[in-house]
Amino acid sequence: MSALSPHVIEEIKALPARYPQPRSAVMPALDLAQEELGSLTPEAMSEVADALMLDPGYVEGVATFYTLFHLQPVGKHRFYVCTNLSCMLRGASDIVEHLKKQIDVDDPTHVSPDGLFSFEEVECLGACEYAPMMRLDHHYFYDLTPEKIDQLVAERKSPSPAPQEAIKPAVKPRAVRKKKADA
Ligand code: FES
Repeated sequence: MSALSPHVIEEIKALPARYPQPRSAVMPALDLAQEELGSLTPEAMSEVADALMLDPGYVEGVATFYTLFHLQPVGKHRFYVCTNLSCMLRGASDIVEHLKKQIDVDDPTHVSPDGLFSFEEVECLGACEYAPMMRLDHHYFYDLTPEKIDQLVAERKSPSPAPQEAIKPAVKPRAVRKKKADA
């Protein structure tokens, strides 16, 4: 029995036609797989590779390089807090500490007891002038304060009315990259 449903596999097979280089379909394909399963299991990565006719090692390499892909289960809502220089100088460590308390997650490898939240510290997201900032699921939030964190968490716990929208930055933030472990 396959890990991915037939309609997701069909969607993945249709992706390469949208890109000049068929390999470029690997990231949206992994995104579809993760959206369905909550994380990228070895079976899911292998099915993505089959559907795109790519080497499984290449697909796994992409999945392990970007923080937005998860090989272990993560929370329904995922916080990616930038803890690079500009954000740290403007209070990112206080934001992280506050966030950890609000979502009841001690460690970036853990998920909150209700399965709703997880968080990671990530490298510069390319919006340093809005520091401290973060990505929450597929949106970016800037000039963070503990109050803003409280509001975002509360909105995700009871998702109505419409959640606070991120303000668009003048620059396009970078893709999320994994934070290197401290030496
Ligand atoms: S240092 Fe945080 S966005 Fe650049």
